[in-house]
Amino acid sequence: MQDHIDAPFGLAGRVALVTGGAGGIGAGIAEVLAQAGATVAIADLDGEGASRQATSLVEAGYKAVAITIDLADEASIMQGCARIVADYGAPWALVNNAGLQDRELLLAGTSALWDRTFSVNTRAPFLMTREIARAMVEANKGGRILNIASAALIGSISTGHSAYAASKAALLGLARASAMELAEHGITVNTLLPGGVITPGAMGAKGPPAEGPARRRPPFGYSTPRDIGTAALFLVSPAAQMITNQVLAVDGGWSIT
Ligand SMILES: NC(=O)c1ccc[n+]([C@@H]2O[C@H](COP(=O)([O-])OP(=O)(O)OC[C@H]3O[C@@H](n4cnc5c(N)ncnc54)[C@H](O)[C@@H]3O)[C@@H](O)[C@H]2O)c1
Repeated sequence: MQDHIDAPFGLAGRVALVTGGAGGIGAGIAEVLAQAGATVAIADLDGEGASRQATSLVEAGYKAVAITIDLADEASIMQGCARIVADYGAPWALVNNAGLQDRELLLAGTSALWDRTFSVNTRAPFLMTREIARAMVEANKGGRILNIASAALIGSISTGHSAYAASKAALLGLARASAMELAEHGITVNTLLPGGVITPGAMGAKGPPAEGPARRRPPFGYSTPRDIGTAALFLVSPAAQMITNQVLAVDGGWSIT
């Protein structure tokens, strides 16, 4: 019998790799996973921001390290993942969080924004999953992969989000395919759909004014990065061993408006 209810959700002795953890939602996820006992590897293009975040977690008594990875660059992903595996062993959890949110109206859309968005939002989660799942399979201890998509997929979309929404919809296909191929290794793959979260990326996204359904206020208000982090903790916890290929919205009730 478990003697403590938090044991199934604890991550002590496990490594969790969070992309885009220098700020915004990724920082919230990194904080919650570190508080659950994980050694969190914060991977970000913004190396200084990742270091600042890792340092503040370490100063608070948690375990965290920073690594600079450009998710738009396959070589950078491969080198970064190899370094993490060499230094800390195979991660238990990978959270593919980093994403670009710039907008262009469909009729003015460019392939440049489409390609940039897909390289970070879709191609990088594929490459990260491949690299980290290889290490997980070799370590033979199972694992957790969590992709961060968006409530844009269930209705809270803004004008200008064709590239963004398409890049996030593709993550559902990636999750389904990777969940199937990784199941025999005890690795689960799930997807979170955050709703409105006030972050540097959401506030600073370039493009025309965001109109449309996403302007509605969620009944519970906007989420914090920690709200996404606590849902992430559940899905990457040992307790969630029977949950794979699932999609969970954390949107403050947006979907019922
Ligand atoms: N904020 C929201 O309301 C919201 C809603 C739904 C989904 N999301 C999704 O959640 C995730 C995080 O969003 P956020 O609002 O915190 O974003 P953010 O822009 O505030 O943070 C994203 C992080 O990713 C990093 N990053 C960007 N490009 C990178 C690259 N090439 N290589 C490595 N790191 C890179 C940035 O430096 C930054 O630290 C994204 O995938 C986003 O699409 C956000």
